[in-house]
Amino acid sequence: MSATWTKDLKIDHPELDRQHAELFRLVGAAAEAADGAPRPEVERAVQAFSDELMVHLSAEEGVMEDALYPERGRHKLAHELFVRDFMQLREELREKGPTPVVSAWLRTRIPEWLRFHILANDLPLAAHLAKRPRATAAARRGVSRRLS
Ligand SMILES: [Fe+2]
Repeated sequence: MSATWTKDLKIDHPELDRQHAELFRLVGAAAEAADGAPRPEVERAVQAFSDELMVHLSAEEGVMEDALYPERGRHKLAHELFVRDFMQLREELREKGPTPVVSAWLRTRIPEWLRFHILANDLPLAAHLAKRPRATAAARRGVSRRLS
């Protein structure tokens, strides 16, 4: 399984795709740092990933709210469960430093979650968003027909 962003993860939403690719890049950089860089550097790299993650999840949740995406409750819950998991990693790093457990999370567990989440949750969201303009146009046609 690839730990980097690959084309099969493209959901055809330019902003979310850009953010996803950036998340893979940042977690990869944190994994590299955890393999021997001084602890402050590892902490900085994990912080950079964390910052981008929070920006991304809230952007995506905003998109879902705006679109009144029917699955938004379940999708948001998946984000929350992941953030809870990620907080455990941060705790481990804070308490014990860049242990092999921290490395494994950064190298494998987080990229695997991202990959799974994009394919299982973000792809259906993007498909829903892609359908919307047509639905709106159709609704508008229906309205103008009713008005004429
Ligand atoms: Fe998501």
